[in-house]
Amino acid sequence: MEENKKIIFSGIQPSGELTLGNYLGALKNWVKLQDEYDCYFCVVDLHAITVKQKSADLRRRTLEVLAIYIAAGINPEKNTLFIQSHVPAHSEAAWLLTCNSYMGELSRMTQFKDKSKKHGESVPTGLFTYPVLMAADILLYQTDLVPVGVDQKQHLELARDLGGRFNSAYSQTFKIPEPYIPPVGAKIMSLQEPTKKMSKSDENVNGFILIMDPPDVIRRKISRAVTDSIGVVNYTDEQPGIKNLINILSAIKGYTSDEIVAMYKDKGYSEFKNDVAEAIIEELKPLQDKVNEFLKDKKSLETIYKAGADKANYMANKTLRKVQKKIGLIPR
Ligand code: TYM
Repeated sequence: MEENKKIIFSGIQPSGELTLGNYLGALKNWVKLQDEYDCYFCVVDLHAITVKQKSADLRRRTLEVLAIYIAAGINPEKNTLFIQSHVPAHSEAAWLLTCNSYMGELSRMTQFKDKSKKHGESVPTGLFTYPVLMAADILLYQTDLVPVGVDQKQHLELARDLGGRFNSAYSQTFKIPEPYIPPVGAKIMSLQEPTKKMSKSDENVNGFILIMDPPDVIRRKISRAVTDSIGVVNYTDEQPGIKNLINILSAIKGYTSDEIVAMYKDKGYSEFKNDVAEAIIEELKPLQDKVNEFLKDKKSLETIYKAGADKANYMANKTLRKVQKKIGLIPR
């Protein structure tokens, strides 16, 4: 913990296998930010259970997500890596913030509206209060910056509102965090429906690339990616499929979209797609090898998440105690 550095908090749900969207929209940027900030990177298992999870799958994926964080290049010695449920303050703070949140503002969350559609009459309450738990995650660490993809921006606004509301109702307690949305890769789209976000919960497996997909699967999914009949590599909303592939290549290689358009000026889609697939494979292959290595060594992972939980509990409890006291709860 470094006193003079600004604080970052972010997390990924172990609710499915992680996608290229999670990698380019979140993880890859965390790696870039880790030297400059004091970072808390959490595996948000309590968020994952807002929809039904098989226990064995949840356990396996929680460890896999932690292994992916480290394999992507996040240094567990310099950053705090932990599992959300190991820090009970998150659940406690979530309740205290729930009592200061409104049905109206939670009903307006677009992710809730989308996800609740699938549940008919039996929408899980956890899906509704999910953003309040996310606000607790962030606010407990006096976070300055939250690096996320575009889809989390509305949740972050809510965290800012809840923090600000508490501060005005009681007194200055929470730092109000800023979002960090990366300039490229913040919204990777489905390969099959490029006007929709790439998502691990997509029923069509050809719509997403998983971080752990083997090379032949990546080649196949990219070659099947929906494009158009225009036949020219251009960065425009009229060609959402091609635009998405340009964004993917740009986020991986660091070329601008103009540079990519110039590179493929007289070339067809198949050469372009081929290069995109190879770039993804080259980026993910070393990461995949490391993940498989780390997963063989459960003891080391345990050491990492236990040390992370110690640090995180210390920080989170400091804020939680202040919150409890201000509300009028009697200290133990
Ligand atoms: P989750 O698990 O859905 O996604 C994790 C991160 O990946 C980003 N992301 C994407 N970025 C670009 N293109 C995509 N297609 C794409 N899909 C996902 C997300 O924006 C996110 O940054 N509620 C959060 C997890 C969370 C959290 C937090 C994040 C819980 N507490 C506190 C930040 C701070 C979520 O469900 O992310």
